[in-house]
Amino acid sequence: MVTIVVGAQWGDEGKGKIVDVLASQADIVARYQGGANAGHTLVCQGRTVVLHLIPSGILHEHVHCVIGNGVVLDPVALRQEISMLESLGVSVRGRLFISHKAHVIMPYHKLLDQAREQHQSIGTTGRGIGPAYIDKYSRTGIRVVDLLDRNVLEEKLRANLAEKNALLEKIYHTEQLDVEAIVSEYLEFDRYIDEFVTDTTSLLHTALADGKRILAEGAQGALLDVDHGTYPFVTSSNPTSGGACTGLGIPPTAVDRIIGLAKAYSTRVGNGPFPTELTDQTGEQLRTIGSEYGATTGRPRRCGWLDLVALRYSVMVNGITELALTKLDVLSHFPTIKVCTGYRLGGQRLKGFPVDAQTLDAVEPEYIELSGWQSPLDEARFIEDLPPQAQTLIELIESYCGVRVTLVSTGARREQIVRRQ
Ligand code: IMP
Repeated sequence: MVTIVVGAQWGDEGKGKIVDVLASQADIVARYQGGANAGHTLVCQGRTVVLHLIPSGILHEHVHCVIGNGVVLDPVALRQEISMLESLGVSVRGRLFISHKAHVIMPYHKLLDQAREQHQSIGTTGRGIGPAYIDKYSRTGIRVVDLLDRNVLEEKLRANLAEKNALLEKIYHTEQLDVEAIVSEYLEFDRYIDEFVTDTTSLLHTALADGKRILAEGAQGALLDVDHGTYPFVTSSNPTSGGACTGLGIPPTAVDRIIGLAKAYSTRVGNGPFPTELTDQTGEQLRTIGSEYGATTGRPRRCGWLDLVALRYSVMVNGITELALTKLDVLSHFPTIKVCTGYRLGGQRLKGFPVDAQTLDAVEPEYIELSGWQSPLDEARFIEDLPPQAQTLIELIESYCGVRVTLVSTGARREQIVRRQ
């Protein structure tokens, strides 16, 4: 049985916390795409833990964690994260399994990402994600399996570095990399990573055959998907639910539940269209109350009202079977709340979510205004306990998107969760 947890907006929907909550009922939590561009924040026993690569299930001792073939693995971030977890007393060895087939982020990927950003202005995290996926698809990437054979690694690295150094020097006029230093750094990493590497596809299929419960954890969000998002202002992988199958090697027939995560308002980091963005005092209030600053880069997130046109599109593309609504507590501070239920362009109401970024950038959102509740949500355990105004918002989301909201998060802590009775 596989449950996929997918971000239904532009990322940062609070996947860390929800995966952590759901992980108590899972045997394996498996990350299927992206890399250290993600930042999943968890608060557990008063400690705030930010994970970039290792699945958010790691804090549950009974859970095994997988970094799947669809992920691009940053050795520096991985080592830092393992050390950080071990310093907190979390055991990682024997519980973390990394796919042979995952691609490895190289120092030149980060340099190229940052250099290209000067020309393209996507607002990337600068973590080398795009260039690593470019190498994957141009079939020059270095995979984890290559780290296990020093000769293969050295040969591939030298060939790649010759090309990348020429690019860095001639096109981007930036620093070049020292071939010997990188070869020795990665040969050393090869010893470090050895104990974690395994055939994760077989591991997951054995688990499925044994009736184990797998939680597939996506990073970023559907609207940042390279195929279905607001291209070119997207990441370079497929956060949408289909990415879980290709990024882990599991068949669509194994998936029986797709949980879409949506914040009760909208945020976006980086550039690109954002119809409900608020550049006024209300947007500032959402950012301050919601602590909307990137967990990876610290950048302030752009904030705006909930966009149901975008969310309904996301439900459709991902095949979301239920929604988890996060950060509802942030809206407790507002006397009225707006929700976008339509886009207009040139006086016409658009039927769906535009296919291109230019059109999305030009649309005017239509809003429904709801009364706020202006009271804390801490006591609620079930959706039926929430203030009637909050229930009205949830009903609007459900009727517009055609799926039930089954979980509501009302704060950063594990216990601040509201379920459907
Ligand atoms: P990249 O993934 O670093 O290439 O960045 C591409 C776009 O995705 C930029 O707009 C980033 O801000 C955005 N992005 C990447 N990772 C995340 C994330 O975890 N949360 C939100 N936005 C992200």
